[in-house]
Amino acid sequence: MNRLTIVTPDDWHVHLRDSPYLEAVVADTARQFGRAIVMPNLLPPVRTCNEAMAYRDRILAALPANSGFEPLMTLYLTDNTRVEDIEAASESGCIHGAKLYPAGATTNSDAGVTDLANLDAVLETMQKHRFMLQLHGEATAPEIDIFDREKRFIELSLERIRRNFPELPVVFEHITTRDAVDYVLASDACLAATITPHHLLINRNAIFNGGIRPHYYCLPVAKREHHRQALVAAACGGDARFFAGTDSAPHSKSAKESACGCAGIYSAHSALELYAEVFENAGDFGHFESFMSKNGASYYGLELNQGTVTLERREWTLPDSLPYPDSELVPFRSGERLRWKQVVDA
Ligand code: NCD
Ligand code: ZN
Repeated sequence: MNRLTIVTPDDWHVHLRDSPYLEAVVADTARQFGRAIVMPNLLPPVRTCNEAMAYRDRILAALPANSGFEPLMTLYLTDNTRVEDIEAASESGCIHGAKLYPAGATTNSDAGVTDLANLDAVLETMQKHRFMLQLHGEATAPEIDIFDREKRFIELSLERIRRNFPELPVVFEHITTRDAVDYVLASDACLAATITPHHLLINRNAIFNGGIRPHYYCLPVAKREHHRQALVAAACGGDARFFAGTDSAPHSKSAKESACGCAGIYSAHSALELYAEVFENAGDFGHFESFMSKNGASYYGLELNQGTVTLERREWTLPDSLPYPDSELVPFRSGERLRWKQVVDA
């Protein structure tokens, strides 16, 4: 097979940042995806409808001319999120969920939720409106081993959310473990999960290959090989509860290559091609289109995109770096060869 045409896909988890970084990255996402769930972890975070709508306007203004890309906005939950904010968001038509970052879990999560019990009224309201909860699923207690944080989150928090709010639709984002795959498979229709291209392509060895490799560091951190294999089986296996979410998270080269480098991998530059490589390695493109373009839309209750995108089998080399304000941006697998390339109309 040398050519693949699929319904235009969506990215169900992306970080687009804000000006001037937004302008440097948004075209990459808009070139490949019809829509994307845009993370709200700006500084300060996007906490209210007004903030989300203003951010949406900035994204639309930063898009290349004639782009039909639609940003799907999210709210950032804090200990102080008000029920009224959720009600307004669920009626907005532009805001497609609220994101739970356990406080301290990742980049710009200091304003996140310190205790789930603080969110009971908010989650009750979300359940009532069937308003999506997006989860950064990592337990943050400092004594928990970093490689166990996702598994512990399932036990300590996700179980509680599912038990107390069984009809709340939840996306367990950027899952990294066999435990998470199994948990989703054993759940009902109110739980789904996104999987990133990097967690499908690397295991934790990549972070330490011959020295410390900051461009392979993200949160949740990549796990052992058997976890990666479980993710590949989930992505390629056709279960509609798994879909693409890149978690593309740009940080400048200087912020990554530092004594305390930021967490985040920039995959938006070639996300489609990276996912295609995963399915090709697995030897089966049978569920590629559903994973990329259908499962997520159906879970979010949205129509499929109208257009299509095409990939062709053609080797190319990823750039070493991309332009980024005051620095450079190093894409995932920079300088390496990829086997698929998106065909972009001239
Ligand atoms: C994200 C970021 O940089 O905003 N980083 C990451 O490693 N994925 C935050 C997140 O989604 O955890
Ligand atoms: Zn993220």
